[in-house]
Amino acid sequence: NSIKSGSFTWSSPSNIALVKYWGKKEHQIPENPSVSFTLDNCKTITTVSFSKKENQDEFSFDVFLDGDKKDGFKPKIETFFNRIEAYLPFLKHYHFKIETSNTFPHSSGIASSASGMSALAMCLMSIEKSLMESDGSLSAVERSFSDSFFIQKASFLARLGSGSACRSLEGDLVVWGKHGDIEGSSDLFGVKYPYEVHQNFKEYQDTILLVDKGEKQVSSTVGHNLMHGHPFAQERFKQAHKNLSNLINVFKKGNLDGFIEIVESEALTLHAMMMTSMPYFILMKPNTLEIINKIWAFREKTGSKVCFTLDAGANVHVLFPKKESEKISEFIKNELVAYCQNEHFISDRIGFGAKQL
Ligand code: PMV
Repeated sequence: NSIKSGSFTWSSPSNIALVKYWGKKEHQIPENPSVSFTLDNCKTITTVSFSKKENQDEFSFDVFLDGDKKDGFKPKIETFFNRIEAYLPFLKHYHFKIETSNTFPHSSGIASSASGMSALAMCLMSIEKSLMESDGSLSAVERSFSDSFFIQKASFLARLGSGSACRSLEGDLVVWGKHGDIEGSSDLFGVKYPYEVHQNFKEYQDTILLVDKGEKQVSSTVGHNLMHGHPFAQERFKQAHKNLSNLINVFKKGNLDGFIEIVESEALTLHAMMMTSMPYFILMKPNTLEIINKIWAFREKTGSKVCFTLDAGANVHVLFPKKESEKISEFIKNELVAYCQNEHFISDRIGFGAKQL
């Protein structure tokens, strides 16, 4: 390649699954399809600078978080590079400086793997594209397909970094995993949800209540693996397919009650799988349950369409339609903030994916 050096910067958001991915096969293939809302404020901004090097026998890179060198991140990136080298043959020809920062606090208990891996994948795709353009190896056909191909390949690469990262590149709803009812869906990359979505779900809000900012006791890698031989695994995978099928009509009709039923059931099922694996574990905290009960009581009392979902941790995502924003902010301030660590929460909403800066 003729280019000696350069740099690209991308921002990419986190996402919150509505139908959860929990359990995977080899090569980061999900056991069941999932769908998520792309977030807006919670994102990672990554700059990758590259410079040509002599030795082409090994990867060479440095990682910085908020300007500080982080050698602790290197093994994760090394694993990622090993998995994607077959698809990005230039990786050993350059030295990379990877500079990254998150818009949310590091120790918030919010995983940065989805936003981080998707931002890195986009930077690497920009590098590949610029190298191909410079040496003329991008054919006219490839160039005409390049926008959709670019996103698809970036999602494919992001998946190999962290499964859920493949759902962060676009918005507002992304499906990952082959599902017979969802045209174009694939186990290999995320696709934009292809059907009609009612106005009720536009600009949906997600306020993340930070119940526990500590490091998780059980990583998602370990959790996924515990689905092998799990007594309820096959039923769970079937249920995820069914919930995704049912969501199609819910989205089309704007059925907020149907949405609540599926989303809350998915959150509790995810945690039920953790509690019933061997070894078993619990990631919810007492305040997680306090918040869930408060949400249920508030809905009962006011007819609100607020609901919750959970990730693989104790924090609670409070989901609600935009038109309830004022009422729900009051509710959160008056009744829920007390259960957050240092009264900390993050107001977010649906967003539209990665952006080049
Ligand atoms: O992407 P991973 O391997 O960190 O797994 C994430 C799994 C959940 O966040 C719990 C669910 C999901 O679909 O995002």
